[in-house]
Amino acid sequence: MIPQAVIDEVRQAADIVDIIADYVTLQPSGRNYKALSPFTVEKTPSFVVSPDKQLYKCFSSGKGGNVFSFVMEMEKVPFIDALKLVAKRANIDISRFTEKKEQRTSPEEQSQTELLRWTAKFYHDTLGREAGAVGRTYLSTERGLSDQTINNFGLGYAPDAWDSLFTAAKRAGMAQEHLVELGLIAHNKQGSSCYDTFRNRVIFPIFSVGGQVVGFGGRILQSDPQAPKYLNSSESAIFEKSKLLYGLHAAKNEIRRQERAILVEGYMDVLALHQAGMTNAVASCGTSLTRYQAKVLHHYTKRVLFMYDADRAGQKSMMSGIDILLSENVTPSVVILPEGDDPDSFVRREGREHFLQFAEEKMLSFQEFQLRYFTESGDFAQSDVKARAIRSMAHTIALIPDRIRRELYLQELSKKLDLSLSALQELLGKEEDATEKKRASFEQRQEISAPRKPEPKLTVLEKTFLKALLESTNYGNAVLEFAASHEEMLELRHKEAQEIFAHLIRRYRNIGETPDARIDITSEISSFDNPESRDLASALLIDPPISNKWLEKSDVHADNAKRCLAMFLDAFKNLILEPLVHQKNVLTEKIRVENDTEQEIELSKEKIVLDKKIRQTSQELKKMITVILETS
Ligand code: UTP
Ligand code: MN
Repeated sequence: MIPQAVIDEVRQAADIVDIIADYVTLQPSGRNYKALSPFTVEKTPSFVVSPDKQLYKCFSSGKGGNVFSFVMEMEKVPFIDALKLVAKRANIDISRFTEKKEQRTSPEEQSQTELLRWTAKFYHDTLGREAGAVGRTYLSTERGLSDQTINNFGLGYAPDAWDSLFTAAKRAGMAQEHLVELGLIAHNKQGSSCYDTFRNRVIFPIFSVGGQVVGFGGRILQSDPQAPKYLNSSESAIFEKSKLLYGLHAAKNEIRRQERAILVEGYMDVLALHQAGMTNAVASCGTSLTRYQAKVLHHYTKRVLFMYDADRAGQKSMMSGIDILLSENVTPSVVILPEGDDPDSFVRREGREHFLQFAEEKMLSFQEFQLRYFTESGDFAQSDVKARAIRSMAHTIALIPDRIRRELYLQELSKKLDLSLSALQELLGKEEDATEKKRASFEQRQEISAPRKPEPKLTVLEKTFLKALLESTNYGNAVLEFAASHEEMLELRHKEAQEIFAHLIRRYRNIGETPDARIDITSEISSFDNPESRDLASALLIDPPISNKWLEKSDVHADNAKRCLAMFLDAFKNLILEPLVHQKNVLTEKIRVENDTEQEIELSKEKIVLDKKIRQTSQELKKMITVILETS
């Protein structure tokens, strides 16, 4: 167990704004920051980060929390790993709490992340040993990588043996079954033993944006038609190739600074460009660019320069990549490399200066590239094929979400093709309708699949009650103390609201013994069992404080504390009275529609009893509240 005080210290030292800015581009908005949500696909920003409260809330997906829950969500890691990552970012050494534990973890307790980290280190260390000599020769002599690049990207070597990883893992007490799940080792046919997936291959660890190892690529040393050139470890929740961009962890800052990313096809291209100082290069890793990857890129920049292989396959991939980027509001441009080159071979032969000069001179807008592509396919020679090519270019423009930009690109196209704008506008109109229909049916599908909850909604009263309770923790324990001693009087109907209520009271009882102990509400929310409770608490906290309206009147902490307590008690009173008043209303209605006189009398008697109960309860609660407010 890591002491709560240490967790609080890490949380307070790390600014949530800095950490979230690693993943999305934040825009100041009043006291808060706004961004496009990293959790959903959206066009208008609904993701809010509050530096005051050190919380975030995504109003389109409902997700919210503190810095730890954000890192857990983004990196798909358990709390302990999120804590380590945040601590590292904040320069706080927590190894005295974590390392001892790590040595003692039994194979069952090892997380996938831990195993991936260990495996990456094994391959990297192997590269430095005698067994790794062939790997070293390959990477440095044949591929021209410096030791610095090899170390920065944690490159490694898997020896030419059946079981080097397997044996080393066994010796180190690493969980074999997990290694099987990760696709790093496999059972033999008889199931009697295991063998390594990667043998005699150089290893490229693949990192998440936060710099954690999530998977591996392994390249064969000599070309062999019998074996694939590259192998990857298995896909899993943490390793989804379609969502990852190789090199992004090392490129993100430079992409932001230059406001441009260079998008290449392969691992080696990224490494060669970074080594030559173009540290804004990332790769889509052989797969064609996905919507998700485009969305990720959009968090860092609005401009992407394609530099795929010069062959026809590379050009075709860029053609589809252009459509995908444009639909995500990213503007692509293209550099076509000389025949037979990829960025790696080109930069190694020509060097940095020439590379940059070439890129600048040969850069094509996406429309110029499309025109060239169709012209070179010979499509423009025949008029019916030419019409199809033009329609395809109009289709691309229709994908751009912004209307004005669509219009501008259309004008551009009209000039380039020497075609009337009105003819192109008509064409675009048709394409837009088709795109709109597709979009609408997509959204409809999403709506249908969204789970509908029959559970009661959070009432305004419950909301006020809970918000006052959460906010009161800034002012001490007076509200918690009251809530804890009257807990049995109240059960909130809303499930998550009740969970938050119960959790806080439980926590208060735990710290109750220690005088002056406080609950740090921003830290506390990561220990809620149910993430939906955390989401709700974050939303309530990130709303402007109910004490805001008092600020003009008073800056005095004690006054605010008292008002918060008053607000809470008022909500508490009304929550208790509410069901009684509801009962009374139901009775009144029954009496109104009752025809039988005898029944009516019975009901009226009931109502009198209820009325009395309401009056009494109300008076008792008022008295209680007055006493509490006077003594606090
Ligand atoms: P390339 O075949 O263009 O390889 O594949 P490359 O990057 O130029 O590699 P070198 O220079 O020969 O070493 C581009 C990318 O496609 C993926 C890899 O991510 C590779 O970097 N790929 C390729 C695979 O996943 N599997 C394969 O068999 C081949
Ligand atoms: Mn290559």
